[in-house]
Amino acid sequence: MKKIEINNLVCPHVLNMKAYSSARMEYDGKDGVFLDANENSLGSVTSEIHNRYPDPLQSDLKKEIANVYNVLPNQLFLGNGSDECINVLIQAFCRSGLDKIVQFSPTFSMYEHAAKVMNIEVVDVLLNESDFQINTNELFPTLGKSTNTSSLKDENKNEIKQGVVKIIFICSPNNPTGNLINKNDIEFILTNFDGLVVIDEAYQDFSGNESWLNRLHEFQNLVVINTFSKSFGMADARLGMLFANSEIIHFMNTIKMPYNITQHTIQLGLEAIRNLSKKQAFIIELLKEKRYLNTELNKISTVKKVYPSDTNFILFEVDDANAVYQYLLSNQVIIRNRNSAPLLKGCLRVSVGTKQENEKFIEVLKNYN
Ligand SMILES: Cc1ncc(COP(=O)(O)O)c(C=O)c1O
Repeated sequence: MKKIEINNLVCPHVLNMKAYSSARMEYDGKDGVFLDANENSLGSVTSEIHNRYPDPLQSDLKKEIANVYNVLPNQLFLGNGSDECINVLIQAFCRSGLDKIVQFSPTFSMYEHAAKVMNIEVVDVLLNESDFQINTNELFPTLGKSTNTSSLKDENKNEIKQGVVKIIFICSPNNPTGNLINKNDIEFILTNFDGLVVIDEAYQDFSGNESWLNRLHEFQNLVVINTFSKSFGMADARLGMLFANSEIIHFMNTIKMPYNITQHTIQLGLEAIRNLSKKQAFIIELLKEKRYLNTELNKISTVKKVYPSDTNFILFEVDDANAVYQYLLSNQVIIRNRNSAPLLKGCLRVSVGTKQENEKFIEVLKNYN
């Protein structure tokens, strides 16, 4: 395995920080008189009881998730949606106003949003127009020498003088284009880049492909993101997962807000992770519905192109995306207009819904003229 010094990648100010600690972390028994956290011991004003702070490290839930995904609990970070996982990772590894991230456009907007909020520069590399794949020849000159963090190490240790690209975000399958990113290209980036490589697998369950999680032991710089929002059908619970080597997770735990996951969400997460057969049934049904949408979209003359999809949505092209989008809205059919995204002129994105929803969408679109 290529050796990467995570200590040299993490923000220097995070390296020696201590995580927020509470008295409850020093006592792991379940029974006792808990008078340490200024809670309201009398109960809650609501019918359900919510008067105690939740477990800051979500140990019970992590144990079960780790078991299902075949990792160790200390290789797992849980966030308030994978949005929070992305945020905390950038916060831990990128110095505001100095370091950079790379993304491949068009892609999921949260990488850029999270970076910009923290004043982190986003190096935007376009995907190939023909197949929405990464052009690795174009990527590495963009990164330049700055990818090699060891060569930038200051004599004073852990100080990287120049701003460098610390994280490359790869969304696979990619939102909004719907395609998986080539395995060989990801492998090439993981091998040749000395910073963190994040593979966002929010839609992986729909692809039928092997998860990059199975390669976690091979690459110290590999970070895999997944979410309960898609195949599990738990978007409202706000529960995201980030898998990485335990050093990376340690730094994320150090800087996160102490109680980022509520007890209610922990309970929902436990229920979800014990219901994998229902998730599987959803996937089968959604893939069937996607085939229906694909077939029907291809029959409609307004539709110029239907892109292949490894996800639970379909990207398609029309002549006038704004007009079609507005027409659908006026018929109470809400899809996503991607017309102004790079490379996506004329493109709309539709999520695979229930049979009735999909039929309604197709029926309305057929009547566009
Ligand atoms: C690629 C990708 N990653 C992550 C997310 C966000 O997931 P979460 O609901 O866990 O924040 C989305 C949401 O659409 C997404 O498309």
